[in-house]
Amino acid sequence: MVKNLKSPVTYAKMKGLMSQFSALIKERKALASDLMLKLVASPKIYRRFDSHGFLRPEEDAADELCFRGASPQKVTAADFDYLKVIGTGSFGKVLLAKQKDTKNYYAVKVLQKHPILQRKEQGHIMCERSVLLRTLNHPFLVRLHYCFQTSGKLYFVLDYASGGELFYHLQQERVFLEPRARFYAAEIASALGYLHALDIIYRDLKLENVLLDRSGHILLTDFGLCKEGVDREGRTGTFCGTPEYLPPEVLEQREYGLTTDWWALGVVLHEMVYGQPPFFSESRSRMLKNILYQPLLLSPGISKPARDLLQRLLEKDPRKRLQNLAELECHPFFSSINWTELVEKKVRPPFRPSLSGPVDLVNFDPEFTQLPVPPSLSACEGSGLTFPGFSFTSDNGPAVSTQFSRR
Ligand code: ADE
Repeated sequence: MVKNLKSPVTYAKMKGLMSQFSALIKERKALASDLMLKLVASPKIYRRFDSHGFLRPEEDAADELCFRGASPQKVTAADFDYLKVIGTGSFGKVLLAKQKDTKNYYAVKVLQKHPILQRKEQGHIMCERSVLLRTLNHPFLVRLHYCFQTSGKLYFVLDYASGGELFYHLQQERVFLEPRARFYAAEIASALGYLHALDIIYRDLKLENVLLDRSGHILLTDFGLCKEGVDREGRTGTFCGTPEYLPPEVLEQREYGLTTDWWALGVVLHEMVYGQPPFFSESRSRMLKNILYQPLLLSPGISKPARDLLQRLLEKDPRKRLQNLAELECHPFFSSINWTELVEKKVRPPFRPSLSGPVDLVNFDPEFTQLPVPPSLSACEGSGLTFPGFSFTSDNGPAVSTQFSRR
């Protein structure tokens, strides 16, 4: 080591140098990641520079060509008639749509690209697509049939759950009797167990994301917040979700895992039997404090098993909380449930949504259905591939060969 006696390196100087150095690295990192984003977002650029195909997602080819039946055919926004708005979300709307050639009805989720790109949410969107693709085979999860894009919008073509949101039905009735709450909680738990087996935390379980099909079975939707790739203990590090459903470990920004979803199931069950979430307060900050510090208070009026299950799900310490589907299945609250028959949809739903026909929208909140259908939805604008690898069709089996693989 060479010592510079004229100008010794003091601790303060060293600290200054280090902070300059780390600021420089931060700046370079930000520049590099910005450049990567631009590259990945713009196929024109990455095709030119990415001679080895590192940036090109395997399934990118599907964006230009979706295969339907024997002949290659593109499924586009113009293949559907958009009939009514049935839901709204942060980046767009869900519409009831009819496929022109098959006359099949679908729920089409249409998202605006611009705000997604602005808020750097591409990750969430591609995650939603990827989770939907990997979860084709569960009876209580909404199926993705196609996705495609125009220059301004992303389209997810999903199963249409004509029974509407569970939230809407609960609003109509205020509370559900225990047998009805048990049936929904069991079907939701079955879907969560399936996602967990695929290393996916659902993260956004809330009444609004629980839909009913025309027979009254559950369909979970909205996978934009799912976390794929949890580690073996099922932990990950980031979170954003609806506050009422957040467990203490998430509010405290500690690591969280699969048991986050079991807490949220506790919140949903509480809402079904009591008509409001646990730890409820009109004030958001009071409610957050309650979730963190207030012991769970359960008013009388529910059965002992229901009470015990709520305590096991709404346990503040995630290590003491109910851990998995197997534990839940043998809880006394579910003693009347035959889990094999449940997942085969052989258990008769306690409530069948009233429907006079496929486009009867009585189960949807008029707050949505009265909204005007945007006129530009069928417009065949150029595809503008700012989401490479997004498009997909399920008609002829998976367009992506790896979608069923378990990590
Ligand atoms: N709202 C959100 N997603 C939906 C779907 N798949 N079917 C009906 N309504 C919905």
